[in-house]
Amino acid sequence: MSTIISEDIANPPTNRLLKVLDVALPDRNYPITIGTNLLSHLEHFKLHAGQRVLIATNTTIAPLYLQTLTNMLAANGIEVDSVIVPDGEQYKTMATWNTILTQLLANNHTRRSILIALGGGVIGDVAGFAASAYQRGIPFIQVPTTLLAQVDSSVGGKTAINHPLGKNMIGAFYQPQAVVIDLNCLKTLPPRQLSAGLAEVIKYGIILDSTFFDWLESHIDDLLHLDPAAMSYCIYHCCKLKADVVIADETEQNLRAILNLGHTYGHAIETELGYGKWLHGEAVSVGMLMAAYAANLLDKFSLTDIDRIKNLLSRAGLPITRPSQMPAEAYLPHMLRDKKVLSGQLRLVLPTQIGKVEVIDGIDKNIVLESIKSVEMK
Ligand SMILES: NC(=O)c1ccc[n+]([C@@H]2O[C@H](COP(=O)([O-])OP(=O)(O)OC[C@H]3O[C@@H](n4cnc5c(N)ncnc54)[C@H](O)[C@@H]3O)[C@@H](O)[C@H]2O)c1
Ligand SMILES: [Zn+2]
Repeated sequence: MSTIISEDIANPPTNRLLKVLDVALPDRNYPITIGTNLLSHLEHFKLHAGQRVLIATNTTIAPLYLQTLTNMLAANGIEVDSVIVPDGEQYKTMATWNTILTQLLANNHTRRSILIALGGGVIGDVAGFAASAYQRGIPFIQVPTTLLAQVDSSVGGKTAINHPLGKNMIGAFYQPQAVVIDLNCLKTLPPRQLSAGLAEVIKYGIILDSTFFDWLESHIDDLLHLDPAAMSYCIYHCCKLKADVVIADETEQNLRAILNLGHTYGHAIETELGYGKWLHGEAVSVGMLMAAYAANLLDKFSLTDIDRIKNLLSRAGLPITRPSQMPAEAYLPHMLRDKKVLSGQLRLVLPTQIGKVEVIDGIDKNIVLESIKSVEMK
């Protein structure tokens, strides 16, 4: 196995539920540490006294967590400054990227400085891309604060900004030196954002791990209540599943594609309705149902399993009906433009049983239309 998991059971006094996942890349390793109250403890950041750090965060997260992190680092002899950018996907731009670079330059940061991304996937993506470019690359630490960022965007080393002509079109593969996941951060996350993160969690069960899907069926309420033990297990398991896919894809060119279950349909919803109306996880929820129906229409997936998926998504607070203002025909132009489409043919990731998917090429458009219509309108 390409990843090693160790549980730190030597911490009962603080009960921080520590789990460390060592992501073993061909050229180096880095740890993803999961636990409670980690923002107040230096040891998982792989930093030491005398170093300089710039924290990049946004206007929503700064009042919640910036002080705690800054104080902890300063108390350990680390010189800290910060840059606070506006909140929102619409700010995942070259302008924000440039703001971070300007702060690095204006404060005379050297190539030994470390950039910390404190926030959700937007901050992680834009700050990671800034770290990859500043003086041709400085060390970078991810402190993801949304469930989606903790289980998805902080794993895999993809960083990006949006361009007016396309989302995530400018970026780099750039791995962090550490990922620090503090479960306490989820306490302030709006419930809708928590559910959106659970869509990606459920996705991992459907594509890779039926036992994990079973576990989710019995623990979804614990996750919604932020039960620390359940959440810590869930996040480390998802990070491990994604890390294994990402590492394996170094040789198997196509494996990463399975992470896109439901995403081709979901992107159609996000693009047609305009970003922000439906959260990414909400669109993926409905998209995964559509993919399940497409698989059923191709005699690859049972109605019983569709019901299991539908129930779990619904219990997670996710939509299981499609947007009423969007007829089935409106999906196709977006789906044909999707960057995962090869030469005009529809290529989709479809489940064949819970825990298994196939990438299927050349899918008939009528099957796709039928699969969309199989999901009721709101
Ligand atoms: N790099 C990758 O592999 C990858 C994978 C998936 C998604 N992404 C990217 O991630 C982004 C979506 O990430 P996201 O869902 O985390 O969105 P986000 O970063 O916009 O965060 C969602 C909202 O929650 C707020 N927030 C974050 N943490 C909070 C907390 N602890 N308490 C209260 N509010 C908090 C944010 O300020 C924001 O308003 C997209 O830009 C997407 O392209 C990247
Ligand atoms: Zn996604």
